[in-house]
Amino acid sequence: MRLLVLHGPNLNLLGQREPGLYGSNTLAAIDAALEQQAAALGVELTCFQNNHEGALVDRIQEAGGQAGSPASDGILINAAAYTHTSVAIRDALLAVALPFVEVHLSNTHAREPFRHRSLLADRALGVVCGFGATSYRLALEGLVAHLRASA
Ligand code: DQA
Repeated sequence: MRLLVLHGPNLNLLGQREPGLYGSNTLAAIDAALEQQAAALGVELTCFQNNHEGALVDRIQEAGGQAGSPASDGILINAAAYTHTSVAIRDALLAVALPFVEVHLSNTHAREPFRHRSLLADRALGVVCGFGATSYRLALEGLVAHLRASA
């Protein structure tokens, strides 16, 4: 099983960015923990961060692979601010039709009203938010369990 983890804009600044909200873990530490968890679960994981909407769209399309032969089996995505704005990322996820889980470090529903709306959530397998770096761990566990159950 091959999985893709996508991190959107400003997540490269984790560790120094608003630590009260997002915690003190760096993105490299989050990715390393996910890779360890993936190895224990026996799945292959690729992590990708980018600040640009189009680059995230390109990476999602790449995960879709050729028709009938996807390069990834599922996606974990923290689209960060693009969660609330990006029709292009939603469309890319729908185009490749891979199961995906939406992840957020913070509880977006307990924040400003503009963060309450997600353009991805209604098509996600699930949404995990509010647990800091643990949100990613829970999302990975959920995605793998779903894919194994549906194999
Ligand atoms: C975030 C929440 C978003 O609203 C915000 O724009 C981010 C991070 C989170 O992980 O909590 O950049 O996705």
